[in-house]
Amino acid sequence: MRRLFPVTDQTATTGSGGGPLGAPGEGGDAAEDREWSLDELAEAYAYPQDRPGAPRPWLRANMVSTLDGAAQHDGRSQPISTAADMRIFGTLRGLADVVVVGAETVRLEGYRPARARAEFAARRAAAGQAPAPAVAVVTAGLDLDFSLPLFTSPLVPTLILTGAAAAPDRVAAAEKAGVRVVIAGDGMGVEPARAVQALGALGHTRLLTEGGPRLLGQFVAAGALDELCLTVAPMLTAGDAQRIAGGPSVAVPQRFALASLLEEEGFLFGRYRRP
Ligand SMILES: NC(=O)c1ccc[n+]([C@@H]2O[C@H](COP(=O)([O-])OP(=O)(O)OC[C@H]3O[C@@H](n4cnc5c(N)ncnc54)[C@H](OP(=O)(O)O)[C@@H]3O)[C@@H](O)[C@H]2O)c1
Repeated sequence: MRRLFPVTDQTATTGSGGGPLGAPGEGGDAAEDREWSLDELAEAYAYPQDRPGAPRPWLRANMVSTLDGAAQHDGRSQPISTAADMRIFGTLRGLADVVVVGAETVRLEGYRPARARAEFAARRAAAGQAPAPAVAVVTAGLDLDFSLPLFTSPLVPTLILTGAAAAPDRVAAAEKAGVRVVIAGDGMGVEPARAVQALGALGHTRLLTEGGPRLLGQFVAAGALDELCLTVAPMLTAGDAQRIAGGPSVAVPQRFALASLLEEEGFLFGRYRRP
């Protein structure tokens, strides 16, 4: 893993690390190609702390795409991922209060509860976070198997985000399994901005969405996304796979700013923020 951007004079000439977005720890060399520790990755991906006013939720997405824009292969993202991508995936979870995910991704990827990992324990405790992030599943139909470990045995209770018109028997089934059902829309569905607000009201300010594309597209369209952590896999798949964000397009393309860029074995790990 090496850092390609931002490149500071310091990095280029002395390799001493540093830089505005956090770089490898003391004595580390951001430009040198070596495996970064999870601690170094956690520094590099820290949520912004110096925001003025009352802390409002910060919504970050983490997605992987091939060179030709595919967000999955054979219905999964694993074939287009790699070990370094999974380390960053784990790091982003290690930093988050809650992981927001669409129900189809939960069904297709067989989501399990987030683990408490020793590498992030001290950092989480210092930040006042639970040992692991909660998982919040966005669903209108609540067509989910509530006997799965994601719902019955998480470290932190799993949340369901749904609309006020959700089927009462499905809501009851979720609650019986120990799930907390949060209403974030007036109809069947969730309104993306309301979901962010509702999670903030529960004390969750470090939000991470892992998609899928249909959910991410709605966060984008609502102007609710603050940051995109995008892995570009050096692969071509052709075909008709979804892109990382779907749904109706926005009227004017939203401009994001590149905040950092890491590389390992040809995979690019970009971090883009709303300017
Ligand atoms: N490349 C990546 O980084 C990445 C990341 C994640 C997933 N994926 C891939 O993406 C695919 C799945 O993604 P997807 O886009 O099809 O589905 P998705 O966004 O994960 O989930 C869609 C489902 O979420 C629920 N939902 C979405 N918006 C809602 C709203 N406003 N209100 C209420 N419920 C809402 C609905 O669930 P109900 O049907 O239950 O009502 C809907 O069917 C998989 O192939 C997965 O491997 C790739």
